[in-house]
Amino acid sequence: MTKTLHVALGSDSYPIVVGTALLNRVGEYLTPYIKSNKVLIVTDSFVSARYMPVVRQSLVDSELDVNTIEVRAGEESKSIAQFSQIQDSLVAHQLDRGSTLIALGGGVIGDLGGFAAAVYMRGISYVQIPTTLQAQVDASVGGKTAINHPKGKNLIGAFHQPKLVLIDVDTLKTLPQRDIRSGLIEVIKMGVIRDEPLFKMVEEHLEAILNLEDTTLIEMVASACVNKAEVVAKDEKESRLRMVLNYGHTFGHALEAVTHYSRYRHGEAVSIGMNCAAQLAVNLGMFSEADFQRQRTLLNRAKLPITFPPDLSAEALCDAMYLDKKTLGGKLRLILPRRIGEVVIRDDVEDQHVLEAISQCF
Ligand code: NAD
Ligand code: GLY
Repeated sequence: MTKTLHVALGSDSYPIVVGTALLNRVGEYLTPYIKSNKVLIVTDSFVSARYMPVVRQSLVDSELDVNTIEVRAGEESKSIAQFSQIQDSLVAHQLDRGSTLIALGGGVIGDLGGFAAAVYMRGISYVQIPTTLQAQVDASVGGKTAINHPKGKNLIGAFHQPKLVLIDVDTLKTLPQRDIRSGLIEVIKMGVIRDEPLFKMVEEHLEAILNLEDTTLIEMVASACVNKAEVVAKDEKESRLRMVLNYGHTFGHALEAVTHYSRYRHGEAVSIGMNCAAQLAVNLGMFSEADFQRQRTLLNRAKLPITFPPDLSAEALCDAMYLDKKTLGGKLRLILPRRIGEVVIRDDVEDQHVLEAISQCF
């Protein structure tokens, strides 16, 4: 079973194919988007061992000239050094303006490979083959590419849309449960910000999702991608609407920063951030206690954390929030829920309310 969706961006439009048993058909799916037969697969050490052989064979069977580069698994690879290595590889293998880069892996590889494709020869084509739930429901769609600067995450990047996103949910079978739960937060987030039926679907089918049942996974991943595609189609460069995708992220990024990106998965930090944003919305009288409890219950059932660890201080977290790159003119920009299925962008919330909500979430 496969589902094909569409990201509507004029001449930069592209399909998203979601299904099972797709990796051995990558060549077939890719061929219509290929201008010259040279490709470079960018992957990480972990994904390479499991999925590179099948993808490579499929491309060779389609008579493509396949080159590969592998970086170390982990966030540290979103660096200038790895970016530079990929550029060296593109040059060494003589990829030209008609060549295609294939990002095979999680969000790290998608962001790193996408950015390498965005700047090589002022931009070559690339294809996303996301292999983590985080990347399948969020990172691979929408064309945000980036590497990190030692002073901050995703500070160096570009908007560069892929030609195709190929999502094989079979790859999730090798992903640790902790990463499945962590990736699921982006689906729950999408439900809260704009799709109550999707939120309800996760409530009703949580066990099937965590048991990685194909049909449910395909439905869920496709729904999340449809939502992301709609937001991106309306506001590709994040002038305003796209910011809603950052629900829970301002609190979450602060938590990740003060814990040096080592204690929490991104999705776990966002889960705590969503609980805190919802608490703040309740305090401001704009979100009902019933909806707050509904979100809390689902996060608890998904075994996602909702409280800050006791060794941190509310003040330190608040300070870190102001360093978030989305801060505008010293004012925090917060995405706050009005109900499950609707959020608003607020940049008028007083610091004392933010501090109070954080204090309530320990
Ligand atoms: P990741 O890419 O580091 O993957 C996590 C780990 O899972 C890695 O060790 C990887 O080797 C391993 N892995 C990947 N696929 C696997 C599989 N099928 N089975 C077993 N292990 C597998 O992390 P992630 O959570 O996928 O992505 C996080 C990154 O995504 C962050 O850098 C974040 O900034 C970025 N991101 C980007 C966007 C965007 O719009 N561009 C959106 C959200 C997040
Ligand atoms: N993950 C946030 C965005 O794509 O805008």
